[in-house]
Amino acid sequence: MRSFLLIGLLFLQASAAEEIVPTVVAYAKAHAEGDVTASFRAADYLGDLSDLPIGVFDSGVGGLTVLEAIKSHDRHHNLTGSEGADGIPDFAGERFVYFGDQANMPYGNYSAAGRTGFLRELILRDALFLLGRRQARGDKPPVKAIVIACNTATAFGLEDIRAAVKAWGLPVIVVGVVEAGAQGLVESAEGAQGGVAVLATVGTCASNAYPKAIAKVSDRPVRQLGSATLAAAIEGDPSVKMPIRDIIRTDVGLFLKSAVADGAAPIDTLVLGCTHYPLVADEIAAAFAYWREQADADGRKPYAQLVATQLKQVNPAAWTAETLWRTMRAAKMMAKAKPATGDYFYISVPNSAWKGVELSPDGSLNYEFKYGRSEGQVDREDTINVPLLAGKLPGTTAELVRNKLPLTWQSLQAER
Ligand code: DGL
Repeated sequence: MRSFLLIGLLFLQASAAEEIVPTVVAYAKAHAEGDVTASFRAADYLGDLSDLPIGVFDSGVGGLTVLEAIKSHDRHHNLTGSEGADGIPDFAGERFVYFGDQANMPYGNYSAAGRTGFLRELILRDALFLLGRRQARGDKPPVKAIVIACNTATAFGLEDIRAAVKAWGLPVIVVGVVEAGAQGLVESAEGAQGGVAVLATVGTCASNAYPKAIAKVSDRPVRQLGSATLAAAIEGDPSVKMPIRDIIRTDVGLFLKSAVADGAAPIDTLVLGCTHYPLVADEIAAAFAYWREQADADGRKPYAQLVATQLKQVNPAAWTAETLWRTMRAAKMMAKAKPATGDYFYISVPNSAWKGVELSPDGSLNYEFKYGRSEGQVDREDTINVPLLAGKLPGTTAELVRNKLPLTWQSLQAER
């Protein structure tokens, strides 16, 4: 009897999850004027879209590493499109709308909380925010392309967004970071043919998106290192007390310990499978170098054979930029007119006016509330999206962006 109940419950959960895309699609279709949250104006997507901006989203500021990679991408001649840098960034004629769903992050922890359905709905709503015009300031334009600048969101939401865009009949390009990362691993191998360590959120690891994507293009052995706190620490989350360097060192130490115990193949390549991680790429390299040299009580170095001296790092962002360029060029979607404005940056914040919202003392959504929500309420507004201003970033995050992402920082400074 009990097992029947369990099967019934699992079936109900599965069918509720299957309803996510149709429910969100139907909701937006029913509001074709784009006048409510989670909707867009259908009339914005008629005719030539090439002069609209490119939308980029992440669960927080990590996706800015992808925006930087797109802005600095120069692999082609801008007029002819032929291979080879010409000193002018390939996307020089484009402008961008960036969105970080910071109030609802870390995305990487929803799967462990059993809330992948809700995460999928959040991700669809991120795409809808980019497609629509509705937000605190009245001049946000619609977008011609959506770049999912988040590995976790790509792992759980790429297919959903593609299905929704198709159901809405929009000629909007959708690009994610995971396939681009796998492609980047192959294209940048340069002799590295050993084991691959994918560093990502716990959610991305649980989805197995990287091992699956890599297996399609390479037969190199892959191991995953999931961190539950690193992305939030980079985001400046005050609830994470451990310094970033210590989090990385601890995570890497545990990872290597289990790799040695399993007799894993020597690792010569790291894939930065979370868009926050390029901001701490040096600290990641330092942690592997640190453990490589650690000796045990007998003076043996247990990780010396496991970790290559020259560890290669692959940042999927560079290949995401290239995928975007190729897709836009093939679809004749590169901008024709000179951009009339700069870039737009938005971030989500808790909406304490929404019924039932519970906040922590630091003003963020309370953890139990955040990870206790379920899909099915497309019109919920327990968070709202507001302009992201450079001056509002926590100090450590602002410093990382200023030092590591100069083009993005410059563009953020220009935000009103
Ligand atoms: N930046 C996101 C990624 O690439 C993860 C951060 C989060 O857990 O929200 O996976």
